[in-house]
Amino acid sequence: MNLYTLISATIVLAISLLSLPLLNHYWFNSTSPRLLTADLILKNGVIFTSDVSLPFADSMAVQNGRILRVGNYSALQELAGDGTKILNLDGKIVVPGFIDSHVHLIPGGLQMVRVELRGVNHKDEFVRRVKEAVRNSKKGSWVLGGGWNNDLWGGELPVASWIDDMTPHNPVWLSRMDGHMGLANSVALQLAQITNFSQDPNGGTIVKTSHGEPTGLLIDAAMKLILPWIPEVSVDERREALLRASNLALTRGVTTVVDFGRYFPGASVQLSWEDFSGFSQHFDRVYRVLYLIFSILFYGMEEIYI
Ligand SMILES: *[C@@H]1O[C@H](CO)[C@@H](O)[C@H](O)[C@H]1NC(C)=O
Ligand SMILES: *[C@@H]1O[C@H](CO)[C@@H](O)[C@H](O)[C@H]1NC(C)=O
Repeated sequence: MNLYTLISATIVLAISLLSLPLLNHYWFNSTSPRLLTADLILKNGVIFTSDVSLPFADSMAVQNGRILRVGNYSALQELAGDGTKILNLDGKIVVPGFIDSHVHLIPGGLQMVRVELRGVNHKDEFVRRVKEAVRNSKKGSWVLGGGWNNDLWGGELPVASWIDDMTPHNPVWLSRMDGHMGLANSVALQLAQITNFSQDPNGGTIVKTSHGEPTGLLIDAAMKLILPWIPEVSVDERREALLRASNLALTRGVTTVVDFGRYFPGASVQLSWEDFSGFSQHFDRVYRVLYLIFSILFYGMEEIYI
């Protein structure tokens, strides 16, 4: 035990000493503004700085993606050089990047190319979109989608019979916008052997009619009954999905996320870890514009939900 502590301490000390020249170099540069030239200066904006001594400024100088200085335009002019691009914000507001502390980027990115039910505010429209998707699907293949929110059409929860007529040959799975429940059609229920006699799993509900027949709606851990029947998406598809979702996040000003992967209450965390393994390296190399930090935070999840 003591030996380990000693070795660790020695390593930390060695790293610190080795980093000292780097640190000096950094200070030297950052205290010598004459050496710095901004490649971008934003001016004439309302820039929120989070700094009480100057909460708002009108200009900001940037070099290589990092902020050099924030202040009034006059205070930044010395950072301008030949190649400096000056961007007039015309009074627009600038805030630091948003941090979204609960996202599911890969499932979200996959959903972006599936049946889109987000914003649907009428049962007929729900049914119409599924019908259209089925028309474009091969017989027997899964029709997947989601994003529905029953609150938008008065609260009634969807049931398999809404879509069974038009989906006699395709299993269907449509998750709710929060990912905590989903609707299966009767083909999917049959495939997953969910019947009148199926019992609720721990932490989940198979919603049933008053006569004891599954309606198609599966809540939380009950979703585990259907998901293994849906074919796995390939690594490439997952990468594309991650990129799609990341780009959407960036266009909305979200620059950092805490990602819960494909985790939902009652599911194993293992699959989510596997989904992300090897990704950060890939993205750093290929998509240098992405500064999303993929941190998967499962800490304490089990205690929260069970
Ligand atoms: C910035 O400019 C505004 C007016 O343009 C002025 O009121 C303010 O004092 C200036 N702030 C600093 C830090 O120079
Ligand atoms: C399930 O229950 C419903 C309603 O009671 C009934 O109509 C149906 O025949 C039952 N299905 C099976 C396979 O027992």
